[in-house]
Amino acid sequence: KPIVLSGCQPSGQLTIGNYMGALKQWVAMQDDHDCLYMLVDLHAITVRQEPAALNSACLDGLALYLACGINPQKSTLFIQSQVPEHAQLAWVLNCYAQMGELNRMTQFKDKSARNVNNINVGLYSYPVLQAADILLYQANQVPVGEDQKQHLELTRDIATRMNNLYGEIFTLPEPFIPEFGARVMSLQEPEKKMSKSDSNPNNFVGLLEDPKKLAKKIKRAVTDSDEQARIYFDVKEKPGVSNLLSLLSCATGQSISDLVPQYEDKMYGHLKGDVAEAVVSLLTPIQQRYHEIRNDRAYLDEVMQQGAQKASARATTTLEKVYKALGFISVT
Ligand code: AQP
Repeated sequence: KPIVLSGCQPSGQLTIGNYMGALKQWVAMQDDHDCLYMLVDLHAITVRQEPAALNSACLDGLALYLACGINPQKSTLFIQSQVPEHAQLAWVLNCYAQMGELNRMTQFKDKSARNVNNINVGLYSYPVLQAADILLYQANQVPVGEDQKQHLELTRDIATRMNNLYGEIFTLPEPFIPEFGARVMSLQEPEKKMSKSDSNPNNFVGLLEDPKKLAKKIKRAVTDSDEQARIYFDVKEKPGVSNLLSLLSCATGQSISDLVPQYEDKMYGHLKGDVAEAVVSLLTPIQQRYHEIRNDRAYLDEVMQQGAQKASARATTTLEKVYKALGFISVT
């Protein structure tokens, strides 16, 4: 089975964007792939986090993964900081990544421009830690959005460099664009993607939000003002309406081309009402399962412990190979 690795940052409450773009696809891949799914808390601290909030965001995230259908019997599910090999390999890779390469990373440029008071070294070498995540498990496929392609390219470059120096240590990962992966956009500013750490909460729908509140947010979403107020899919001309249509499509499973004709003579308000209803019906059972799981700390501990053990056993094999290749002395 192809090895797949992916994760979300516990840097806030996971959003419907994380669900449509990641979790939903992850669940679908569990049967015919060897999947590793994590919460990347080491990545999250590249932006200042409040410790208590980070702690509960990790537990919330884990319970949500499970509530959405990630099955820890089928997949390896873990918290990144509980598998020390990630930080260990990241250090090694830091010594094989060039400043010139990292200087070109557009995500660093964007994030540092937005965060001028805390441009830390971790933020700079964020893609190197990501490379460690991927290479540790010899992942073949990494589900990526457009914004992550550059990081995966860097991972391949570092891996190729080390393979050329030391023999075949790493598998080269391929980008994997999920078949029906939607990019969910901000509700108020539909030209940018929906983000859990957006400072305006009206821009995102959290997976755990109260159904009434989230329905209200969707009903207040920005639509586009053209004279005829027609409903059709065109990301450039009608970003707001197109975002609502893709949300509806993801939530109902109906294709956009099937949906559009149903709204030919309808108003924006009608579409928003339907999107709100569909998202509420999608999230209600997930929220119910989430609350049961989140209240069972013993179960969460067991999942974390087993996941970390499973992941660490695999990660160690790669790390040992790397250490040996570099000339580090093994005591075993
Ligand atoms: N709006 C989105 N639409 C589709 N997919 C999305 N993902 C995130 N936002 C959307 C997918 O979720 C996974 C995990 O993302 P992440 O938490 O590691 O980081 P991110 O992409 O930076 O997500 P956020 O919500 O924007 O986080 P913050 O605000 O903390 O930076 C990835 O697979 C991503 O594609």
